[in-house]
Amino acid sequence: MSLATLQVDEQGKLRHLLSTEGLSEPLLTEILDNAESFLPVTEGAVKKVPLLRGKTVVNLFFEPSTRTRTTFELAAKRLSADVINIDAASSSTTKGESLLDTLKTLESMQVNMFVIRHGVSGAAQFFAEQAAPGVAILNAGDGRHAHPTQALLDMLTIRRHRPDFDQLKVAIVGDILHSRVARSDVHALQTLGVKDIRLVGPRTLVPQSLSSLDVEVVHDLRAGLRDVDVVMLLRLQHERMDGQLLPGGSAFFNSFGLTARTLDYAKPDALVMHPGPINRGVEIAPDLAYGERSLVLEQVSHGIAVRMAVMAMTIGTQSAALQASREARA
Ligand code: NCD
Repeated sequence: MSLATLQVDEQGKLRHLLSTEGLSEPLLTEILDNAESFLPVTEGAVKKVPLLRGKTVVNLFFEPSTRTRTTFELAAKRLSADVINIDAASSSTTKGESLLDTLKTLESMQVNMFVIRHGVSGAAQFFAEQAAPGVAILNAGDGRHAHPTQALLDMLTIRRHRPDFDQLKVAIVGDILHSRVARSDVHALQTLGVKDIRLVGPRTLVPQSLSSLDVEVVHDLRAGLRDVDVVMLLRLQHERMDGQLLPGGSAFFNSFGLTARTLDYAKPDALVMHPGPINRGVEIAPDLAYGERSLVLEQVSHGIAVRMAVMAMTIGTQSAALQASREARA
């Protein structure tokens, strides 16, 4: 079954979230609108709503994570779900249990949702194909393929500052080749109407073949940043690199690091974003990481609202509010 038909049911309702590729503009916008309606919950004094009361969510992480795992956990707790975190390094998968056996074992404990991060591209789709009806799979990053909730929180963050997507020029800078975030961001930006997307970095990390995504491939930072509204930076993902793709030392920072000087090529009010973890002095100058143009911490907190929205839309007992806003937009 194709990814698009797996993640959305016949009524157009979100069943799993595996990728931003193939998510329609109305559905993507509905997720962002619902996330926006959860922001007051995440920022208020009482941070709980009962939408997922009685539901069980399992966070199954086969790769390290700080932001994503914590914000998925917080999102589930703020929706009143019971949450179990499984660090796969300490689970039976290290004793040779297959992914499928892990899924079936946990499913027999009446779990309603799995949030899965795995090093292999396609792992979340595999889970979704095997999951029992009514069990939702949320992809928290699979190999270099997709990281849809990161892209959605990036879109929410951009929308709150620059809602005119069709006017935006966006540069995604760094290790695009190994980045699931870049791929998911490109699909989401295009669905929301962004026409000018530049992928910027050295030839080894931004091969010309990426222009098949209908973006511009640029190997010069200044040219790539010229007049952009948004700069999205990425970490060098050494764990996914085979062989020597980069000269050592500070060579990457000298050519592609964002500094006050190189940021000057972008629009004067350009937004600076990064999914984290940040490597200061590698992809970004230390003083810019949390500088006045940086939205890095806002991205993290928007991650909670976006994950709440996706959880509520897949397994939530649709609240009157969610249902009403859905009908109003129909
Ligand atoms: C990203 C990831 O895991 O793909 N991080 C994240 O989820 N915040 C990017 C990265 O690891 O560099």
